[in-house]
Amino acid sequence: MNELLNVQNLKVIFPTERGIVRAVEGIDLCVHPGECIAIVGESGCGKSVTSLAIMKLLSSPPALMHADEMTFDGKNLLQMSEKQMLDLRGKDMSMIFQDALTALNPVMCVGRQLDEMFLRHTKMTRTEAKAASIKALRLVGVPAPEKRYHDYPHQLSGGMRQRVLIAMAFAIKPKLIIADEPTTALDVTIQAQVLDILQKLQRENGTALILITHDLSVVAHMADRVYVMYCGKIVEHAPLRDLFTDPKHPYTQGLLSSVPHLTASSNRFVQIPDNVPSPLKKPSGCYFHTRCSHCTPECTQCMPRLTDVDDHRQLRCHHPLGGEHHG
Ligand SMILES: Nc1ncnc2c1ncn2[C@@H]1O[C@H](COP(=O)(O)OP(=O)(O)O)[C@@H](O)[C@H]1O
Ligand SMILES: [Mg+2]
Repeated sequence: MNELLNVQNLKVIFPTERGIVRAVEGIDLCVHPGECIAIVGESGCGKSVTSLAIMKLLSSPPALMHADEMTFDGKNLLQMSEKQMLDLRGKDMSMIFQDALTALNPVMCVGRQLDEMFLRHTKMTRTEAKAASIKALRLVGVPAPEKRYHDYPHQLSGGMRQRVLIAMAFAIKPKLIIADEPTTALDVTIQAQVLDILQKLQRENGTALILITHDLSVVAHMADRVYVMYCGKIVEHAPLRDLFTDPKHPYTQGLLSSVPHLTASSNRFVQIPDNVPSPLKKPSGCYFHTRCSHCTPECTQCMPRLTDVDDHRQLRCHHPLGGEHHG
């Protein structure tokens, strides 16, 4: 199958007064049409910078970006002008941000903001756009959409605002949506409802989705494949089921342990100690060695390569975890 998005060796650095922040250190990823992939890792590991780089939304300076290849739907993103990107964003790829309050315009009612999507990217009239907006609000489960159309962002609850963002992202039926921590600001019940809507629209429209989160439980029912990121590098890449039943990287195992109901009851995972290292002081060798209970001298000296485990899985670790029955 042809990829919808193909990213090869993406690097992003931020030269700062205190040193160079290597936010993204050469990652490869691909998304097929209609597929949901997840990028998972703790805060600061480079997930948002990756997504902004793909959308070409990083301002430079301060960001310096490089990729060997970055193609979307047969187009070379690296060679596209800002004008061409403006047309692409919203129409062919769109983004759902964590914080709807800052993503939405505070002084424009949400209905009008939805109208703008239709007016900018289609030939609809104002009347048609308004009807389409109300329909879009209904599709994401906003009750009384004719009334809510006139509400300003601050008049809506967090969950309703996030639904509006989802409606905007799907409005023009893009081929790819990047959702960066789309439910992190919401409480658990609302989070589940919003994820359900996101998944329903994704499947009905056949939209490819990049779901970015620090919380593996969010991807449990949604993602086909998962990329686990740590300190700017992919450390494990696997189909969702394999990752959950048989994590190979100690970091993945640690992330799984923070969502106990996902893991087999026979597994007693230890929580990951300490914090993500400062991006200005990444450890020698494997970046995870300072927090890893399987660390050996090799790990402190030599960065493991990302290697194929099988046709579908990749891993960056000197001492892969065995099957779940060996431990
Ligand atoms: N404008 C910037 N200047 C300097 N460093 C930045 C900037 N934006 C992001 N970073 C750094 O890049 C790293 C990755 O950030 P980010 O992608 O936001 O992480 P995540 O989304 O995984 O929490 C972090 O160490 C962050 O501090
Ligand atoms: Mg982020």
